[in-house]
Amino acid sequence: MYSLNLTNLPLMQSNQDTGSACTEYGDMATEKFRQEVFDGLASTPRRLSSKYFYDEKGDRLFQQIMAMPEYYLTKCELDIFSNKTPELFKAIVQDDEPFDLIELGAGDGMKSSYLIKYLQEEGVEFTYMPIDISGSILNVLNEKLRSDIPEVSILSLEGEYFEMLGKAASLSQRRKVVLFLGSNIGNMELNEAFEFSMELNKKLSTGDVILIGFDLRKNPHTILNAYNDKAGITAAFNLNLLTRINRELDADFDVEQFQHFQTYDPESGACRSYLISLLNQNVRIGGETISFVKDELIYMEVSQKFSKCEIKEMAQQTGFDFVGEISDSKGWFLDAAWRVI
Ligand code: TRP
Repeated sequence: MYSLNLTNLPLMQSNQDTGSACTEYGDMATEKFRQEVFDGLASTPRRLSSKYFYDEKGDRLFQQIMAMPEYYLTKCELDIFSNKTPELFKAIVQDDEPFDLIELGAGDGMKSSYLIKYLQEEGVEFTYMPIDISGSILNVLNEKLRSDIPEVSILSLEGEYFEMLGKAASLSQRRKVVLFLGSNIGNMELNEAFEFSMELNKKLSTGDVILIGFDLRKNPHTILNAYNDKAGITAAFNLNLLTRINRELDADFDVEQFQHFQTYDPESGACRSYLISLLNQNVRIGGETISFVKDELIYMEVSQKFSKCEIKEMAQQTGFDFVGEISDSKGWFLDAAWRVI
């Protein structure tokens, strides 16, 4: 077994050359963050990008969200991965040929480890390639897999999805199976989700398979409750981004003066989160001041819900053959397998 954190390699090397690559990388990331915050807050409605939710505190709050009784998504997809593994296997494995199992945004790999274990037990030859923007979570995942399933071959790729997908393709000629779980596709606007799927299609080859987790439309109360918990964990998760901006971009958001607001529109299937300014207030970010009027909102994120029919349409319109769909015992969540035509 080998495990290689590819993106760390060039960084470590250039670090020896210049002694400052890490700092420069950090500066560049902060600069990008600053730019995106200013652009987002200047748009109408004001918005902040949810990809910045996941700092250390955000990671912890997200773990708490997944453990909440109201938040059904993780439990449903775990039901699929732990109880319907043979069906997943049938959807992704072809003729016992070796392949690369790539996971976009692998996180701690809780769900995928069931599949990995099953593949291993069935004697299939594969390399697991988790892709994540967070190097520290990849290390955790690596250690966990190494102790739970020591025989598995792992190649960790730290970085942006498409860049790392290109890297995976350049490293191996094997057929690719790509996992994109957790209804993360729902956190894109619908047009972005279509573009993402087309881009994925372009980066892959005929016969490659993707397995995408979709949250299904269901009773609107069930959906709204999952994102609007009474204990306020989801609120804290959203508000934590303001705290992060305060810390990393030298700002002075008064977090107490913003309130989380969640909507679910059963017609469009969009579940959206906002932060609302509770009064007229000025916020300083670095050298700039932004004025919020009372009740003004900041749009934070969408969690799109889909019908089975909408999922099939997306496959068709973005260049895939529909291979199969596997849902949990409640019929609330679905992992769809699509093959590149
Ligand atoms: N993709 C998951 C979802 O849409 C996880 C998630 C992303 C989430 N952002 C969230 C969960 C905000 C709760 C709140 O549900």
